[in-house]
Amino acid sequence: MLRFAWRALAGLLWIAPAIAQTTFTPRDESPEDFAAGTGRDETFYACTACHGFKLVAQQGMTRAQWEDSIKLMIRRHNMPPLDDKDRETVLNYLEGAYPPRAPTGRGGWQNPFAK
Ligand code: HEC
Repeated sequence: MLRFAWRALAGLLWIAPAIAQTTFTPRDESPEDFAAGTGRDETFYACTACHGFKLVAQQGMTRAQWEDSIKLMIRRHNMPPLDDKDRETVLNYLEGAYPPRAPTGRGGWQNPFAK
């Protein structure tokens, strides 16, 4: 009986990593979780190479400010530069889906990338 138990345990240990591997999901986000719009999937995958898309979606910025953040990602965080077509797609999406939420100006929230 004891012997059987050991065998069962050994079998389990051998099988467990295989199960873990098939159920592993690399991200807990998918493009469908975010505002619909043309270019959403492209933007999602361009930005989630390094961090969650929530970090992006929680911002609200003008097109120029979005462009600045992308430049910052490239300059400071080694993001591979987007070609012109992809940059257009990504900016169109971000501008449409995540515009500034409150008027900037006196006392308002200031985008740290705008300077
Ligand atoms: C090569 C890696 C990389 C890629 C690709 C990347 N980022 Fe980032 N991003 C970072 C790092 C590193 C940080 C700072 C660490 C953090 O806050 O988690 C960051 C932070 C941010 C922030 C938060 C700044 C803040 O004030 O909290 C925003 C907004 C952002 N990224 C936007 C984007 C957008 C939009 C894209 C896609 C077009 C993108 N990132 C793609 C590396 C990347």
